[in-house]
Amino acid sequence: MALYCWFAVVGLAVAMFVQTNHGQDVRTGQGPPPGGEGRLRETEGEQGPPGGEGVKGDRGDQGPPGGDGAKGVRGEQGQPGGDGAKGDRGDQGPSGGDGAKGDRGDQGPPGEKGSAGETGSPGVSARVNIKQCAWKDLNNGADSGKIVECAFNKVAPTSVLRLTWSGSTRVRPTTACCKRWFFTLNGSECNSPFPIDSLMCTNGASSVNIHRATTIDGLCYNLPAGPVTVALNVGNREGWTECADANTGWNSYSRIIVEEVNIPTGND
Ligand SMILES: *[C@@H]1O[C@H](CO)[C@@H](O)[C@H](O)[C@H]1NC(C)=O
Repeated sequence: MALYCWFAVVGLAVAMFVQTNHGQDVRTGQGPPPGGEGRLRETEGEQGPPGGEGVKGDRGDQGPPGGDGAKGVRGEQGQPGGDGAKGDRGDQGPSGGDGAKGDRGDQGPPGEKGSAGETGSPGVSARVNIKQCAWKDLNNGADSGKIVECAFNKVAPTSVLRLTWSGSTRVRPTTACCKRWFFTLNGSECNSPFPIDSLMCTNGASSVNIHRATTIDGLCYNLPAGPVTVALNVGNREGWTECADANTGWNSYSRIIVEEVNIPTGND
Protein backbone atom coordinates (compact mmCIF):
# COMPACT_ATOMS: atom_id res chain seq x y z
CA MET A 1 0.00 0.00 0.00
CA ALA A 2 2.85 2.38 0.79
CA LEU A 3 4.29 1.78 -2.68
CA TYR A 4 0.95 2.58 -4.31
CA CYS A 5 0.71 5.94 -2.50
CA TRP A 6 4.20 6.82 -3.69
CA PHE A 7 3.13 6.21 -7.29
CA ALA A 8 0.09 8.45 -6.84
CA VAL A 9 2.27 11.40 -5.68
CA VAL A 10 4.65 11.02 -8.58
CA GLY A 11 1.77 10.82 -11.07
CA LEU A 12 0.20 14.03 -9.76
CA ALA A 13 3.48 15.92 -10.06
CA VAL A 14 3.86 14.87 -13.72
CA ALA A 15 0.30 15.96 -14.53
CA MET A 16 0.90 19.44 -13.08
CA PHE A 17 4.07 19.80 -15.10
CA VAL A 18 2.30 18.92 -18.38
CA GLN A 19 -0.59 21.26 -17.66
CA THR A 20 1.81 24.17 -17.08
CA ASN A 21 3.51 23.68 -20.40
CA HIS A 22 0.15 23.49 -22.18
CA GLY A 23 -0.85 26.72 -20.60
CA GLN A 24 2.19 28.33 -22.09
CA ASP A 25 1.12 27.00 -25.44
CA VAL A 26 -2.23 28.77 -25.02
CA ARG A 27 -0.58 31.98 -24.13
CA THR A 28 1.52 31.73 -27.29
CA GLY A 29 -1.52 31.04 -29.49
CA GLN A 30 -2.12 33.13 -32.65
CA GLY A 31 -3.84 36.45 -31.93
CA PRO A 32 -5.46 39.10 -34.22
CA PRO A 33 -3.30 40.61 -36.97
CA PRO A 34 -1.01 43.22 -35.87
CA GLY A 35 -2.74 46.54 -35.61
CA GLY A 36 -1.66 49.90 -35.14
CA GLU A 37 -0.72 51.19 -32.11
CA GLY A 38 -3.07 49.52 -29.92
CA ARG A 39 -4.38 50.35 -26.76
CA LEU A 40 -2.17 51.39 -24.10
CA ARG A 41 -2.24 47.94 -22.67
CA GLU A 42 -2.54 44.54 -24.36
CA THR A 43 -5.39 42.55 -22.90
CA GLU A 44 -4.73 38.94 -21.90
CA GLY A 45 -6.49 36.19 -23.94
CA GLU A 46 -8.83 33.70 -22.54
CA GLN A 47 -7.55 30.55 -21.08
CA GLY A 48 -7.47 27.64 -23.55
CA PRO A 49 -9.00 24.24 -23.08
CA PRO A 50 -7.12 21.68 -20.97
CA GLY A 51 -4.44 19.75 -22.80
CA GLY A 52 -4.65 16.03 -23.32
CA GLU A 53 -3.20 13.66 -20.87
CA GLY A 54 0.51 13.44 -20.86
CA VAL A 55 2.59 10.40 -21.48
CA LYS A 56 2.81 8.02 -18.57
CA GLY A 57 5.90 8.81 -16.62
CA ASP A 58 8.68 6.44 -15.92
CA ARG A 59 8.43 3.97 -13.04
CA GLY A 60 9.56 5.64 -9.93
CA ASP A 61 12.26 4.37 -7.68
CA GLN A 62 11.34 1.79 -5.07
CA GLY A 63 10.14 3.45 -1.97
CA PRO A 64 11.64 2.95 1.46
CA PRO A 65 10.53 -0.11 3.47
CA GLY A 66 7.21 0.24 5.21
CA GLY A 67 6.93 0.24 8.99
CA ASP A 68 6.15 -2.83 11.03
CA GLY A 69 2.59 -4.06 10.81
CA ALA A 70 0.23 -4.39 13.78
CA LYS A 71 0.87 -7.29 16.13
CA GLY A 72 -0.95 -10.39 14.90
CA VAL A 73 -3.56 -12.38 16.81
CA ARG A 74 -2.15 -14.93 19.30
CA GLY A 75 -1.92 -18.28 17.59
CA GLU A 76 -3.31 -21.53 18.95
CA GLN A 77 -1.29 -23.49 21.49
CA GLY A 78 1.21 -25.74 19.81
CA GLN A 79 1.59 -29.52 20.28
CA PRO A 80 3.27 -30.72 23.48
CA GLY A 81 7.01 -30.89 23.24
CA GLY A 82 8.84 -34.22 23.16
CA ASP A 83 10.42 -35.89 26.19
CA GLY A 84 13.47 -34.16 27.53
CA ALA A 85 16.83 -35.86 27.84
CA LYS A 86 17.32 -38.28 30.73
CA GLY A 87 18.63 -36.47 33.80
CA ASP A 88 21.83 -37.33 35.63
CA ARG A 89 21.81 -40.05 38.28
CA GLY A 90 20.93 -38.62 41.68
CA ASP A 91 22.86 -39.15 44.90
CA GLN A 92 22.12 -42.30 46.89
CA GLY A 93 19.30 -41.79 49.37
CA PRO A 94 19.49 -42.63 53.09
CA SER A 95 18.94 -46.23 54.10
CA GLY A 96 15.31 -47.23 54.65
CA GLY A 97 13.81 -48.15 58.03
CA ASP A 98 13.14 -51.69 59.23
CA GLY A 99 10.43 -53.57 57.39
CA ALA A 100 7.38 -55.12 59.02
CA LYS A 101 7.83 -58.43 60.86
CA GLY A 102 7.48 -61.36 58.51
CA ASP A 103 5.12 -64.30 58.92
CA ARG A 104 6.13 -67.31 61.01
CA GLY A 105 8.13 -69.75 58.97
CA ASP A 106 7.42 -73.44 58.54
CA GLN A 107 8.61 -75.87 61.17
CA GLY A 108 12.14 -77.03 60.58
CA PRO A 109 13.18 -80.68 60.16
CA PRO A 110 13.99 -82.73 63.27
CA GLY A 111 17.46 -82.20 64.62
CA GLU A 112 20.15 -84.83 64.58
CA LYS A 113 20.39 -87.40 67.34
CA GLY A 114 22.37 -86.09 70.26
CA SER A 115 25.46 -87.77 71.67
CA ALA A 116 25.16 -90.36 74.37
CA GLY A 117 24.73 -89.04 77.89
CA GLU A 118 27.04 -89.69 80.81
CA THR A 119 26.72 -92.91 82.69
CA GLY A 120 24.49 -92.49 85.68
CA SER A 121 25.19 -93.72 89.20
CA PRO A 122 24.18 -97.31 89.92
CA GLY A 123 20.50 -97.57 90.71
CA VAL A 124 18.70 -99.72 93.23
CA SER A 125 17.67 -103.05 91.89
CA ALA A 126 14.14 -102.98 90.63
CA ARG A 127 13.86 -106.73 90.90
CA VAL A 128 10.92 -107.75 93.00
CA ASN A 129 12.14 -109.67 96.05
CA ILE A 130 9.15 -111.33 97.61
CA LYS A 131 8.60 -114.75 99.11
CA GLN A 132 5.61 -116.66 100.42
CA CYS A 133 5.69 -119.60 102.82
CA ALA A 134 2.34 -121.43 103.00
CA TRP A 135 0.91 -124.26 105.06
CA LYS A 136 -2.13 -126.45 104.88
CA ASP A 137 -4.05 -127.27 108.03
CA LEU A 138 -1.43 -126.02 110.45
CA ASN A 139 -3.68 -126.83 113.40
CA ASN A 140 -0.89 -125.53 115.67
CA GLY A 141 -2.05 -125.67 119.28
CA ALA A 142 1.00 -123.94 120.87
CA ASP A 143 0.09 -121.39 123.55
CA SER A 144 3.53 -119.75 123.40
CA GLY A 145 6.64 -119.82 121.21
CA LYS A 146 7.28 -120.07 117.54
CA ILE A 147 4.48 -121.32 115.31
CA VAL A 148 6.13 -121.29 111.84
CA GLU A 149 9.12 -119.65 110.20
CA CYS A 150 10.12 -118.53 106.69
CA ALA A 151 13.71 -117.94 105.56
CA PHE A 152 14.36 -114.84 103.46
CA ASN A 153 17.41 -113.11 101.93
CA LYS A 154 17.42 -109.34 102.15
CA VAL A 155 19.45 -107.95 99.23
CA ALA A 156 19.84 -104.23 99.90
CA PRO A 157 20.95 -102.63 103.16
CA THR A 158 18.67 -99.62 102.63
CA SER A 159 15.44 -101.47 101.88
CA VAL A 160 12.65 -102.31 104.30
CA LEU A 161 10.86 -105.63 104.89
CA ARG A 162 7.10 -106.06 104.76
CA LEU A 163 5.92 -108.97 106.88
CA THR A 164 2.44 -110.41 106.43
CA TRP A 165 0.58 -113.24 108.12
CA SER A 166 -2.68 -114.58 106.73
CA GLY A 167 -4.41 -117.39 108.61
CA SER A 168 -6.85 -118.21 111.38
CA THR A 169 -6.27 -117.76 115.09
CA ARG A 170 -8.30 -118.74 118.13
CA VAL A 171 -8.19 -118.58 121.91
CA ARG A 172 -10.61 -120.55 124.11
CA PRO A 173 -9.68 -120.04 127.78
CA THR A 174 -11.60 -121.02 130.93
CA THR A 175 -10.50 -117.74 132.49
CA ALA A 176 -9.86 -114.29 131.15
CA CYS A 177 -7.06 -114.54 128.57
CA CYS A 178 -5.27 -112.31 126.04
CA LYS A 179 -3.02 -113.98 123.49
CA ARG A 180 -0.64 -112.13 121.20
CA TRP A 181 0.68 -113.22 117.77
CA PHE A 182 3.87 -111.44 116.63
CA PHE A 183 6.70 -111.58 114.13
CA THR A 184 10.38 -112.00 114.94
CA LEU A 185 13.43 -111.58 112.72
CA ASN A 186 16.33 -113.78 113.76
CA GLY A 187 14.43 -114.24 117.01
CA SER A 188 14.00 -110.52 117.80
CA GLU A 189 10.96 -108.36 117.32
CA CYS A 190 11.10 -105.41 114.99
CA ASN A 191 11.94 -102.13 116.75
CA SER A 192 11.90 -99.73 113.82
CA PRO A 193 9.47 -98.37 114.24
CA PHE A 194 7.51 -100.95 116.32
CA PRO A 195 6.83 -104.67 116.76
CA ILE A 196 4.48 -106.20 114.21
CA ASP A 197 1.70 -108.04 116.07
CA SER A 198 -1.99 -108.56 116.78
CA LEU A 199 -4.16 -109.75 119.71
CA MET A 200 -7.07 -112.02 120.53
CA CYS A 201 -8.56 -111.63 124.00
CA THR A 202 -11.66 -113.09 125.75
CA ASN A 203 -13.20 -113.02 129.21
CA GLY A 204 -12.99 -116.77 129.65
CA ALA A 205 -16.08 -118.22 127.98
CA SER A 206 -14.70 -121.65 126.98
CA SER A 207 -17.86 -122.53 125.12
CA VAL A 208 -17.06 -119.83 122.57
CA ASN A 209 -14.73 -121.45 120.00
CA ILE A 210 -14.17 -119.03 117.13
CA HIS A 211 -11.36 -119.58 114.62
CA ARG A 212 -11.13 -116.10 113.19
CA ALA A 213 -9.49 -114.97 109.95
CA THR A 214 -6.46 -112.90 110.95
CA THR A 215 -4.10 -110.68 109.06
CA ILE A 216 -0.95 -109.25 110.66
CA ASP A 217 0.89 -106.82 108.42
CA GLY A 218 3.62 -104.22 108.79
CA LEU A 219 6.90 -102.71 107.56
CA CYS A 220 10.18 -103.06 109.45
CA TYR A 221 13.03 -100.58 108.84
CA ASN A 222 16.71 -100.49 109.53
CA LEU A 223 17.49 -104.12 108.87
CA PRO A 224 20.87 -105.23 107.47
CA ALA A 225 21.17 -107.08 104.22
CA GLY A 226 21.64 -110.84 104.35
CA PRO A 227 19.73 -113.95 105.33
CA VAL A 228 17.03 -113.49 107.92
CA THR A 229 14.63 -115.89 109.58
CA VAL A 230 11.10 -114.52 109.82
CA ALA A 231 8.87 -116.33 112.32
CA LEU A 232 5.30 -116.07 113.61
CA ASN A 233 5.08 -116.54 117.36
CA VAL A 234 2.35 -116.68 119.99
CA GLY A 235 2.42 -115.71 123.66
CA ASN A 236 0.62 -113.92 126.45
CA ARG A 237 -0.08 -110.24 126.14
CA GLU A 238 2.33 -108.41 128.46
CA GLY A 239 0.80 -108.13 131.94
CA TRP A 240 -1.55 -111.04 131.47
CA THR A 241 -1.09 -114.38 133.16
CA GLU A 242 -0.43 -117.63 131.35
CA CYS A 243 -3.57 -118.95 129.79
CA ALA A 244 -4.89 -121.36 127.15
CA ASP A 245 -6.12 -122.50 124.70
CA ALA A 246 -4.64 -120.99 121.53
CA ASN A 247 -4.81 -122.37 118.02
CA THR A 248 -3.25 -121.18 114.77
CA GLY A 249 -4.15 -122.23 111.23
CA TRP A 250 -6.88 -124.68 111.98
CA ASN A 251 -8.23 -126.59 108.98
CA SER A 252 -7.27 -123.91 106.50
CA TYR A 253 -4.31 -122.53 104.56
CA SER A 254 -1.90 -120.21 106.29
CA ARG A 255 0.78 -117.91 104.84
CA ILE A 256 3.77 -115.78 105.76
CA ILE A 257 4.71 -113.31 102.99
CA VAL A 258 8.04 -111.47 103.16
CA GLU A 259 8.69 -108.66 100.68
CA GLU A 260 11.75 -106.46 100.33
CA VAL A 261 10.61 -102.92 99.46
CA ASN A 262 13.07 -100.41 98.06
CA ILE A 263 11.92 -97.24 99.74
CA PRO A 264 14.07 -94.85 101.72
CA THR A 265 14.31 -95.67 105.40
CA GLY A 266 12.92 -93.21 107.88
CA ASN A 267 9.45 -93.11 106.31
CA ASP A 268 7.99 -94.41 109.55
C1 LIG B 1 20.14 -112.50 110.66
O1 LIG B 1 21.22 -113.42 110.90
C2 LIG B 1 22.11 -113.51 109.80
C3 LIG B 1 23.11 -114.59 110.13
O2 LIG B 1 23.78 -114.30 111.32
C4 LIG B 1 22.77 -112.19 109.58
O3 LIG B 1 23.64 -112.26 108.50
C5 LIG B 1 21.68 -111.16 109.32
O4 LIG B 1 22.25 -109.89 109.19
C6 LIG B 1 20.66 -111.15 110.41
N1 LIG B 1 19.58 -110.28 110.04
C7 LIG B 1 18.90 -109.53 110.92
C8 LIG B 1 17.80 -108.67 110.38
O5 LIG B 1 19.15 -109.54 112.11
